[in-house]
Amino acid sequence: PSPTSLPLRLLDWYDRNARLLPWRARPGEMADPYRVWLSEVMLQQTTVQAVAPYFLRFLERWPSVHALAQAPVEDVMHAWAGLGYYARARNLHKCAQVVSEWREGHFPDDEDALRKLPGIGDYTAAAIAAIAFGRRAVVMDGNVERVMARLFAVREPLPAAKPTLKGHAASLTPETRPGDYAQAVMDLGATICTPRNPACGLCPWMDACEGRKLGIEESLPAKVEK
Ligand code: ADE
Repeated sequence: PSPTSLPLRLLDWYDRNARLLPWRARPGEMADPYRVWLSEVMLQQTTVQAVAPYFLRFLERWPSVHALAQAPVEDVMHAWAGLGYYARARNLHKCAQVVSEWREGHFPDDEDALRKLPGIGDYTAAAIAAIAFGRRAVVMDGNVERVMARLFAVREPLPAAKPTLKGHAASLTPETRPGDYAQAVMDLGATICTPRNPACGLCPWMDACEGRKLGIEESLPAKVEK
């Protein structure tokens, strides 16, 4: 198979296997930037399963960025309790105020502008640009790094391999449906290309996977010994 067909094969897999997560738009629907931002900040260091009920509670209580901006910060901190990393909640509230007061409730639609907002780093800026605005942003997290390390048999250990892995990820990111594509790689890493016992037989990229061809998939990505 030609390498250009890899993104399309993954999107086809995603259309049939996407996890039903409460922040995802229905097929063909535009994603709501507020929901994408709220979910991606919550997901920064917390699992999908833990985030889902918090996300739904927040959305019910504060249905818009304006509502969240007007909430007392103590209420937001209290609702966040249990998610951990409390600086994230403080920054969430600050970011809501900036977007509500200075941008009439509209999140910026490009990575560089997003990165200037409180609590939005490289990962979150790329995720929002791709998922909420259809920008061709390269979204890197631990799942994506693992999938790329295996697909391209990158043996260089983390963290030194990060630029190499990002280069591979960039080479695959499509112009069309970049948000679905980003979420598809994350789902692939979470459900099939898992750290232990990857389910290669179910993987849409199995025949292209260099790590598997070499029989070293489970040892990747390599990490520097501590
Ligand atoms: N982890 C972080 N963001 C995610 C998303 N949008 N879909 C699946 N897993 C994720």
